[in-house]
Amino acid sequence: MTQQHTTQLLQPNESAIELAAQLIKDGNVVGIPTETVYGLAANALDESAVKKIFAAKNRPCDNPLIAHISDMDMMKFLCDEVPKNALLLAKAFWPGPLTFVIKRGGTVCNAMCANLDTIAVRMPSHNVALSIINCAGVPLGAPSANVSGRPSPTAAAHVMLDMQGKIPLVIDGGECKVGLESTVVSLAEETPIILRPGVITKAQIESVLNENVLLADSITSPTETGEKVLSPGMKYKHYAPNAEMVLIKGNKQQFCTYVNTKVTNEHGSFALCFDGEEQMLQCPCIAFGKQNNESCLAKNLFAALRDLDEKKAQKIYAHCPAENGVGLAVYNRMLRAAAFKVVNLNE
Ligand code: TXA
Ligand code: MG
Repeated sequence: MTQQHTTQLLQPNESAIELAAQLIKDGNVVGIPTETVYGLAANALDESAVKKIFAAKNRPCDNPLIAHISDMDMMKFLCDEVPKNALLLAKAFWPGPLTFVIKRGGTVCNAMCANLDTIAVRMPSHNVALSIINCAGVPLGAPSANVSGRPSPTAAAHVMLDMQGKIPLVIDGGECKVGLESTVVSLAEETPIILRPGVITKAQIESVLNENVLLADSITSPTETGEKVLSPGMKYKHYAPNAEMVLIKGNKQQFCTYVNTKVTNEHGSFALCFDGEEQMLQCPCIAFGKQNNESCLAKNLFAALRDLDEKKAQKIYAHCPAENGVGLAVYNRMLRAAAFKVVNLNE
């Protein structure tokens, strides 16, 4: 049974940050802002606190968490030795939206790693997140602060919607600048492999490591039941709005013509489109950015999906972004939100 709480929402002043850190030290879970998405944070060294995160999110316990640190000294809690590639990535991208997976050691608890022999680590760049971690003095386990399966929260109000009554405190750090979760790259395999794409791209990582980096198959294909997965998080239906969503591949004209033929006799159908397509569509739409501005699409996607829920969309026709660079991260989340239902108008 999850304990019932009255959930406070506080602005990130000094006393709120101290309260957040104290609650965490006492074994509680707190909603915190990061530059990517909001996180549900607890002491990564405290098994019973970490289990509360899984309960609040209703997250399957075989899906491990990321340990968030505020300085390199905290690596000692997580591994016996920091591999060379990890140091290179930390130097290039931390603090920032990159997570690496390495062999675990130190005193991190089993629940964090879902009993794997590896641990995922990231140093976020949001000042409030850094202050809370620093003040707590321990690494924090922090998955995205949504109920499992729902779109990740990019504003404190989203966290309140999903977590009200389940946790004692949410700190409001404003809208998340990045809007999609960090890039996850595993350094525990022979060749580095990206398990989850984010705004730090394969090309950027390759140029720092000076070697080829692989992309996990699960980024663009559903995992088969029973298949051994490198990234447990990719097994699950994810980021999904309540409506049935279909991802449409094709140019502006193809997309709009297709949607217009479909929506004539449908109620509750919406288009999730790029800026400038609204005028050509004969159904209610939400535009989430310019097609060629992938960082903007990344920033707005999850809020748009939540908006569609609020508008009680029954069906969503979503225009597919580019499938490379930052676009790959947006595409990956949209594929999952659509449960891999894709219509390719170019075929
Ligand atoms: O940007 C982010 O990374 C956000 C913010 C809050 O920092 N956090 C986040 O956490 O997205 P979460 O738990 O929603 O996603 C963590 C991902 C999952 O796909 C999980 O399977 C993977 O990282 N992961 C964690 N530990 C792993 C490990 N040891 N091996 C492989 N994958 C791992
Ligand atoms: Mg998540």
